[in-house]
Amino acid sequence: MRFQHLAFFLLIILVACQNSFDSDNVYDSELVLEDFDYFEEEIPFSKTAYGASVNHDDMAALGRILFYDKRLSQNNSIACASCHKQEIGFSDNKIFSTGVRNYETTRNAMQLVNNAYQIAHFWEGKEGKIEDHVLSPVSNHIEMGMKDVNELVEKLKGITAYNTLFNQVYGEEISEELITNSLSTFVASIISYNSKFDKGEEINFANFTISEVAGKDLFFGKAKCFNCHGGDHYSASWRKNANIGLEMNYDDQGGGNGRFKVPSLRNIALTAPYMHDGRFETLEEVVDHYANGVRNHPHLDWALTTPIALDELESKQLVDFLHTLTDHQLINDEKFSNPF
Ligand code: HEC
Ligand code: HEC
Repeated sequence: MRFQHLAFFLLIILVACQNSFDSDNVYDSELVLEDFDYFEEEIPFSKTAYGASVNHDDMAALGRILFYDKRLSQNNSIACASCHKQEIGFSDNKIFSTGVRNYETTRNAMQLVNNAYQIAHFWEGKEGKIEDHVLSPVSNHIEMGMKDVNELVEKLKGITAYNTLFNQVYGEEISEELITNSLSTFVASIISYNSKFDKGEEINFANFTISEVAGKDLFFGKAKCFNCHGGDHYSASWRKNANIGLEMNYDDQGGGNGRFKVPSLRNIALTAPYMHDGRFETLEEVVDHYANGVRNHPHLDWALTTPIALDELESKQLVDFLHTLTDHQLINDEKFSNPF
């Protein structure tokens, strides 16, 4: 009889502990892999690019959970999504983003759209694939502040739900490699191909206003934007970075001599403020720089050495065109949204 009482008592304690664990981690019980089609058949871009060849929906679904989990930071305050927000094209609306302990980043947070197709990453234009870079924010003392990636591995191992999820997706224990695979597959799956421009390409731009058509002709013609923001992703596919004459003396030299990554212009109307240092608030200011503000830096890119002379109407048309690169489907797509 006594033994039964004791057993019952132990059971109660066990259940109570279980509950208190759950209440510390309120959302863990809801963590499940959702069944989304991340690498859809109809994606029009080359299947040989990293993102489209990885075709693993479960890896991306797990990556999505990690991307939104604040526990990836040292004090549980910052997730990747704190600085890369879906509703504004996975960028941040601040000049500099707030990381752990309210530190500020020293550069403007970049958008993450169609990253798998780009040859350079980060503002200096580092070569390599996304998987070489996704975990660097975790141990960056400003961004997420972990001692090193091992600290994250151990932390996730202490969370029951993650042990279950990693086992489900990989049949293996949590490791640095598998966290990297999941996060980079999710980032690679953020593919935009449903902008007004994309739709227009199929119907000879019958969906465009007169001003948007004029802006398109400027972008690909006289204004020479396409010289650098080229290809399907409007990001240079043949060079890592360029100097666009923002300064005569750069405080931040980027990849050297004031050269910075040629960023993709997809969803550009959503991702203000602009440039590596977030110096421009609007697209009008950006266009004004190219038309009137380019400084004759010794390393200025050849494409910008002759002024492009745009009048007021042309500048407006160019801005109207840039707005056609916004993909409303992507920013509302549930498979990229916060799972918590
Ligand atoms: C505190 C804000 C912050 C957090 C948190 C953050 N990032 Fe970033 N991210 C940035 C900034 C700022 C840059 C540009 C850094 C630079 O060039 O030096 C960037 C750049 C990137 C890039 C390069 C994009 C490109 O076009 O080259 C990737 C990929 C990226 N972040 C992924 C992530 C992932 C994955 C996480 C979570 C593990 C994350 N970021 C967390 C602010 C943040
Ligand atoms: C010589 C190559 C080059 C040309 C030509 C060029 N750009 Fe850029 N663009 C860049 C680089 C490099 C950056 C990033 C510079 C930095 O942050 O220091 C950039 C940044 C931008 C940004 C801000 C992106 C962001 O995410 O903050 C916009 C918008 C933009 N360019 C639009 C245009 C338009 C419109 C034209 C044509 C009038 C144009 N660019 C011509 C290389 C170029």
